[in-house]
Amino acid sequence: MDWKVTVCSSVEEMRLAVSPIWHYFGRTGPMDEQIEALARVLPAERLHAVWDGPRIVGGAGSFPFELTVPGGRVRAAGVTVVGVLPTHRRRGILRAMMRAQLDACRQRAEPVAYLWASEDTIYGRFGYGIASIAMEIDVPRERSAYYAHAEPLGETRLVALGEAELLVAPVWERVAAVTPGMFLRTSSWWQARTLNDADWRRRGAGQLRCAIVEARGRPTAYALYRVNPAWDRGVQTGTLDIVEALGDSPEATRAIWRFLLDIDWIARARASMLPIDHPLVLLMAEPRRLRASARDGLWVRLVDVHAALVARAFAAPGSVVIEVADDFCPWNHARWRVSADGVERTNEPADLAADVTALGSVYLGGFTWAQLGRALRVTELRPEGFARADALFTRQDPAPWCPEIF
Ligand SMILES: CC(C)(COP(=O)(O)OP(=O)(O)OC[C@H]1O[C@@H](n2cnc3c(N)ncnc32)[C@H](O)[C@@H]1OP(=O)(O)O)[C@@H](O)C(=O)NCCC(=O)NCCS
Repeated sequence: MDWKVTVCSSVEEMRLAVSPIWHYFGRTGPMDEQIEALARVLPAERLHAVWDGPRIVGGAGSFPFELTVPGGRVRAAGVTVVGVLPTHRRRGILRAMMRAQLDACRQRAEPVAYLWASEDTIYGRFGYGIASIAMEIDVPRERSAYYAHAEPLGETRLVALGEAELLVAPVWERVAAVTPGMFLRTSSWWQARTLNDADWRRRGAGQLRCAIVEARGRPTAYALYRVNPAWDRGVQTGTLDIVEALGDSPEATRAIWRFLLDIDWIARARASMLPIDHPLVLLMAEPRRLRASARDGLWVRLVDVHAALVARAFAAPGSVVIEVADDFCPWNHARWRVSADGVERTNEPADLAADVTALGSVYLGGFTWAQLGRALRVTELRPEGFARADALFTRQDPAPWCPEIF
């Protein structure tokens, strides 16, 4: 083992540190505009690099996020651009990067780390638990009627990407503030990521378009989408790729989706990364026509169990004692008493025994203790342990949702 882990100190080093993941994108490394866009939202010192002699062979970054959790917000590391060159795989380089990254989170007082996983099997060993389900839909336009007629809401208009941020960011913020899993978007994030329609982001699809619904004098919903026209013997077979569609009220959500599903020349509308409880399921006359499928969404790691639990709200009176096992971050390895009044270490008998991954699964409200129990992922040590834990942890918010892979 003659490699070492450092943090990057320049954009040039960042370029080298993300080159391992770019290998898997089929490229030697990022283009200038790609690394410049990344550097606008990822400070160099938040990107770890692994050196084998003079060469960087692995990299792992973490965005500085403010993550919405039930009843509040918490500082969180949004883990990204993790990659190890195929010449150096399975020598413990990822493990070393995870070590450095989680230690850095702890030092920066970021109690939570979270990510989208390229493969389900990678991150559990480092304490990440599956925390949300993401739904994908692929709906034929001609079978997309709603179950009931809806009067149009306000006015819908197209806006240029250059003007979009001021109009759509407040809608995002209103939704993000009450949706566990969503994070605060900075202006740099809007410009470098969400509204950036460079060729490398478009990947051959249509241009990014932005539509907003305005009601009572302000934007209340928006959609970012791409039209991909195609024909087969004169019949339209094109698709609408819905990148993101948000409304700040049920009526606004219904209106923006009606707009999208009614766009002409489209045979099918596709969206991925919807929350499992998206209202479309109940808005549609034929929900099965959504052709919905589910996959793992976010993976959450409580870096500091105490600080992470203190940052979220608990629903009921009473308390529960959880015996937490955490080999990778042993400072969490303890018995924790959790109640709406606070979280503390305790020596009292535990109601539940859980690996730290289970805490990641229940943290945002995406899974219940009872569900984890039925999958034999946690153990109930005292009667009614799951019921009492779920009374405390169970969400009153919508299901966790992060509309984008970061
Ligand atoms: C996934 C990847 C980062 C792993 O890096 P690595 O340096 O080979 O991983 P390590 O050698 O540190 O492995 C640590 C442990 O994870 C396991 N592991 C690593 N990659 C795995 C995978 N893809 N699936 C299942 N287990 C994996 C190893 O077997 C090892 O297990 P152990 O602790 O029981 O010995 C690397 O293969 C890669 O870059 N893959 C393509 C890009 C990618 O998927 N990145 C993640 C983006 S979210």
